[in-house]
Amino acid sequence: MKPHDLMEKVEKAVRAAGRIIRDTRLDESHITVKGTANFATLVDFEVQSYLMQELAGIIPGSNVITEESEDNRFNLDSPTWVLDPVDGTTNLMYGCRMSAISIALYIGQKPELGIIFNPESDEMFTAEAGKGAFLNGRSISVSRNGRLQDSLIGFGTTPYDKTKSLQTFERVHSIFTACRDVRRSGSAALDIAYVACGRLDGFFELNLQPWDYDAGIIILKEAGGRITRFSGEEINVLKQGSVLASNGLIHEQLQNIIR
Ligand code: 2AM
Ligand code: CA
Repeated sequence: MKPHDLMEKVEKAVRAAGRIIRDTRLDESHITVKGTANFATLVDFEVQSYLMQELAGIIPGSNVITEESEDNRFNLDSPTWVLDPVDGTTNLMYGCRMSAISIALYIGQKPELGIIFNPESDEMFTAEAGKGAFLNGRSISVSRNGRLQDSLIGFGTTPYDKTKSLQTFERVHSIFTACRDVRRSGSAALDIAYVACGRLDGFFELNLQPWDYDAGIIILKEAGGRITRFSGEEINVLKQGSVLASNGLIHEQLQNIIR
């Protein structure tokens, strides 16, 4: 399959799945509690089951690693999709219209493409290896701001583990006093996409899972940005951990505060 056809097929499947997010009315009976501030809804499961089938059809024999599954195969030995059917589930439950489908694809252990789609705003962030990053087909790049004091910085609260909240909010306080202002959206995938298109200069969260950031890594790198662990280490795309994303120019300034 030509790479272009591949992206077209994935985009089509993601748009169809986006209609499930837009058109489903959720009520309490559709919500499963997985832990503190950690939920899955009927929509998460329906989008997941639709996309697992579609993605496996696009590349027969491929591996799909996905958030709402108990038996993920965490390796890249065959072509591997990393899927979050709904990133920003709490936003979806509250009608905040800030949720996204997030998909990364690895072929031969290497990133091939990334897609992050917010069906409520109809914004689709895409990237293919070596071809740049796009928002609804238009080329995007990170901001050119090199001064932390002029920066807008997003962060996540790692809400499902409140024992870590001081580790987060002490960092947020330090960053807040050093930058222009901070933002908290509730979708890590969209936050990273926002860094890729220059709406944010940086983003950080203490602990996230591969499906929260793998598509974002591909899109942000193609948009000229940088993404690492808090320590500055390269992210292992199959393992959970901290995330520091930026336009590259302010990465070390952020890292000096949050490492
Ligand atoms: P979700 O909406 O797909 O669950 C919010 O701070 C961010 O953290 C969201 O991107 C959210 O993704 C993610 N998140 C929620 N629960 C998580 C968990 N148990 N581990 C890692 N990330 C989680
Ligand atoms: Ca999710």
